Amino acid sequence: MTLIDGKATAATIKAEIKEEVERMVAEGQKRPHLAAILVGHDGGSETYVRNKVLACEACGFQSSLIRYEEDVTEEELLKRVEELNQDDDVDGFIVQLPLPRHISEQRVIEAIDYRKDVDGFHPVNVGRMAIGLPCFISATPKGILELLRRYNVETSGKKCVVLGRSNIVGKPMAQLMLQKNLGDSTVTIVHSHTQNIAEECRQADILIAAIGRPGYVTADMVKPGATVIDVGTTRVPDATRPKGFRLSGDVDFENVAPLCNAITPVPGGVGPMTICMLMLNTLAAGKKEYYK
Ligand code: GUN
Repeated sequence: MTLIDGKATAATIKAEIKEEVERMVAEGQKRPHLAAILVGHDGGSETYVRNKVLACEACGFQSSLIRYEEDVTEEELLKRVEELNQDDDVDGFIVQLPLPRHISEQRVIEAIDYRKDVDGFHPVNVGRMAIGLPCFISATPKGILELLRRYNVETSGKKCVVLGRSNIVGKPMAQLMLQKNLGDSTVTIVHSHTQNIAEECRQADILIAAIGRPGYVTADMVKPGATVIDVGTTRVPDATRPKGFRLSGDVDFENVAPLCNAITPVPGGVGPMTICMLMLNTLAAGKKEYYK
C-alpha cells in the first residue's frame, strides 16, 4: 500500500512555483498577486485563508487579505468585487465561502471577472472545464488529478466512482476524470439518492470520497487493489487535542488502507494540495496563461 503524501507533494510544487516566480521577477515581470476576501470569523474559513496567505509567501506571491464583518451588505461586497475586477495589480482573487445567509454566494461568484476567478467557480470556468478548454479549474479536483499523476496511478480505461456531487468537488472531479486526454476513466457519481451505494463503490479502481461524512467508506465498500482518495475534512470534537477537535476523513482509514493500492490520509492528503493548486492557478493568472 502506498500512502499518498499530499503535504510533501504540495511542498515540492510550491518550491517549483517559487523558482518560477523568482525567474519571472528577475526578467522584470511583476510578482503574481492574489487577493482574498474573508467575511466574518468562521473558524474553518479563518484557518483556510491564513494558510492561503502563508502559501502566497512561500511561493513568492504578493497577497492581500480584505476582511469584512458578518453584517457587510451584499451591495458593499459586490462593489469590492468590482474594484478588484478593475485593479490591474491584482491578478486573481477569491471570496472565501461560505458567506453569511443574507448574501447570495452565486451572485458574488458571478460578479467576479472569470479571468481573475482563480477558484474556478465562475460559470464560464465551469463550462470551459466541462468541454475541455483552457480555464481555471477548481483547486480540490485539480489537486487530486495532480496527486494521481505524480503517484503514477493509471486512470485511463479505469472505473472511477466519485462519492458526492457538490459544485466545488464532486461534479468537477467527475468531469475531469471523464475528460479525454486527462482522466479518460469510466465515471460513476454516487450520491444520496443512489441505490446500492456499497455495490457501486466496490466496482471502483479509483474511489474518490467527497461527502463530508466521517468514516462513511468502510472496508466492504472497497475493491482490493483500489486507489482511494479521501476529500473529507470534518471537524470531530476530540478533548484530547489542543484545539478540541480533530479532522476526520470520509474513509475508515484504519480498515480500508490495508486493502488499497494507494490511499490519501486525512490530514496530509488532499487538503495541502488544494491550497497548492490555488497557487498554481494564481501563477497562471499572473502569466495570463488562459485569458488575456
Ligand atoms: N470554502 C471551502 N473551500 C473553498 C475554496 O476552495 N474556495 C473558497 N473561496 N471558499 C472555500
